[in-house]
Amino acid sequence: MLFVEANGARVPAIGLGTWELRGRACARIVEQALRLGYRHIDTAQMYENEREVGEGVRASGVKRDEVFITTKVWTTHFAPHDLERSVKESLFKLRMSEVDLLLLHWPNPHISLSETMQGLARAKQLGLTKHIGVSNFTVALIEQAVAACPEPLVCDQVECHPYLDQRKVRAACDQNGMALVAYSPVAKGRVKSDARLAVIGKAYGKSAAQVCLRWLVQQGVVAIPRTSKIERLSENIEVFDFELSQNDMDEISVMGNAQGRLVNFGFAPDWD
Ligand SMILES: NC(=O)c1ccc[n+]([C@@H]2O[C@H](COP(=O)([O-])OP(=O)(O)OC[C@H]3O[C@@H](n4cnc5c(N)ncnc54)[C@H](OP(=O)(O)O)[C@@H]3O)[C@@H](O)[C@H]2O)c1
Repeated sequence: MLFVEANGARVPAIGLGTWELRGRACARIVEQALRLGYRHIDTAQMYENEREVGEGVRASGVKRDEVFITTKVWTTHFAPHDLERSVKESLFKLRMSEVDLLLLHWPNPHISLSETMQGLARAKQLGLTKHIGVSNFTVALIEQAVAACPEPLVCDQVECHPYLDQRKVRAACDQNGMALVAYSPVAKGRVKSDARLAVIGKAYGKSAAQVCLRWLVQQGVVAIPRTSKIERLSENIEVFDFELSQNDMDEISVMGNAQGRLVNFGFAPDWD
């Protein structure tokens, strides 16, 4: 497993996404993932599965300090005291004394960003999390968040895959020593039927999804693909035993544009 270093954190380059995984199925897939070698699990208050993620981690037998756990604070809990209370509730559900990374799930323009960043930093200072970061922040919001936060930010977790051009956010992360964590990294399964990625993969004996994930990690991006299928858990982590040529990297990099976004909501910021 490769790690991405960012502002003091060491983040396993592939993690398991858990959005929409619920109940026993969620606990089971988390357990299996850890048994197969995953060391990074991504959850959120909004996913309503923190309890099951914690169960899966314990059932796997992998020591807590060997697993990188991320959770995210939902936007209605950004007022400083609310933030602290909601993170304690997350830890109670996870049955953990701290998480490795705590993110603001989306920007919330109705609550002062400066106060929210103070609250997030305080969660770190209180030992509720080892590291802090943001998610769905644009370039302008990254700059504001970094300026307002007394503690270093480790990442911006944003949608990132070959169909969406995220070079601007990537550059802003680089400039601030932050990692880009790619969500929806296999474009919600769409890459599976991509002829171009399949042709590239053939030369390496790899699937289109593996080519896509390799393209991300080879750029120093962290990827958190989600699957409910045990056989795909292995497929999505077996991306460290081959290297894409510069030609193949470049060919994939030109597939993206601004219209390739799959995750959008009315409350989303004005994207770059
Ligand atoms: N911060 C945010 O606002 C935010 C937003 C979205 C997502 N996320 C995080 O990022 C994670 C991943 O994003 P996502 O769930 O939106 O999308 P994703 O990981 O790109 O795609 C998941 C979908 O792709 C399929 N899939 C996975 N691996 C595959 C493979 N090797 N071949 C073919 N199909 C495959 C899965 O189906 P099967 O289950 O059938 O395998 C599932 O339907 C989430 O689970 C969540 O943890 C964060």
